[in-house]
Amino acid sequence: MFKITVLPGDGIGPEVIAGALRVLQAVQKRAGVEFATREAAIGGSAYDRFGTPLPGETQQACLHCDAVLLGAVGGPKWDALPVHLRPEAGALLPLRKQLAVFANIRPTKLHSALAEASTLKREVVAGLDLVVVRELTGGLYFGDKRREELPDGGQKVVETLEYSTGEIERVARMAFGMAQKRRGKLTSVDKANVLESSRLWREVVSDLAGEYPGVELEHMLVDNCAMQMVRHPRQFDVLLTENMFGDILSDQASQLTGSIGMLPSASLGGQVGLYEPIHGSAPDIAGQDMANPIATILSAAMMLRYSFNMEEAAALVEQAVEAVLEEGWRTVDIMQPGMRRAGTVQMAGLVAEKVERGRS
Ligand code: IPM
Ligand code: MG
Repeated sequence: MFKITVLPGDGIGPEVIAGALRVLQAVQKRAGVEFATREAAIGGSAYDRFGTPLPGETQQACLHCDAVLLGAVGGPKWDALPVHLRPEAGALLPLRKQLAVFANIRPTKLHSALAEASTLKREVVAGLDLVVVRELTGGLYFGDKRREELPDGGQKVVETLEYSTGEIERVARMAFGMAQKRRGKLTSVDKANVLESSRLWREVVSDLAGEYPGVELEHMLVDNCAMQMVRHPRQFDVLLTENMFGDILSDQASQLTGSIGMLPSASLGGQVGLYEPIHGSAPDIAGQDMANPIATILSAAMMLRYSFNMEEAAALVEQAVEAVLEEGWRTVDIMQPGMRRAGTVQMAGLVAEKVERGRS
């Protein structure tokens, strides 16, 4: 039996989570395994109920389980709160830190059925299959920050960017390992022409290369990488980045595939993995059965693969998603002329039925 802590969160979070749970039920039946799910509150909805976006009970539930499945947090309703009470800085970042999930894995794959959904030309994105490995618990997002009043009436702000050799090494090893299992190419992204942290980053990553002879390592400056990603994205296999660069580049990468509603993520490195779609809470479409549940369903597939070592079941879910897309089913974010429109509930149901039946 695997214990899963489920954090629906805000906006479309509860809807996409319900979709993923429907698919996990199908996996239970097929694979003869039992998932014990326990829901806990996070984000703005937790703040509304308990006065904090990350209640202690939620933290405990996340620390004492086999994996955490998260929907999304945040929304305009909570944007004006002091920073420590906001869903993002007050819940999501501390949760990642507590779980010590230092590596965020964001696979970006173009589903062949969706080749026309990208804003880039078909020949640029066809066959695209890359993964961003983003450092997730260090760097600017976690450094000391402060404001000071200046004598001239203005303010001064200080943000600190810290990385240690050990922090760089552990996430780099994760990326090298991933490249070994894929096409053997690792692009380490930095800004070594300007930042000292990037120079250390480059040194540490280079020092490890000898231990992974099958992997071809290249270093790329982040500005060039942003350009290369829209110029010729198929050159990339595994991209390794520090926290902020990976935040930015993974959003950019998501658009190569047409919809951010398709992309899952896994945050690994601690005792318990955290799985969440890379999209946000989309408050504008919440509660309307419009959200695309596929990113969360694919995040659940990553959970099967990385936390439960259920490779076959993970592949089954991924194939089921592929098959439903091939049949022409689309949620509104990926709708194209001549395709069949499905709501959140129906889309999840279609995938679940395929999982129950096995290969179609
Ligand atoms: C992401 C998000 C978060 C991040 C925000 C919501 C704090 O953008 O998961 O990429 O920056 O990590
Ligand atoms: Mg982001």
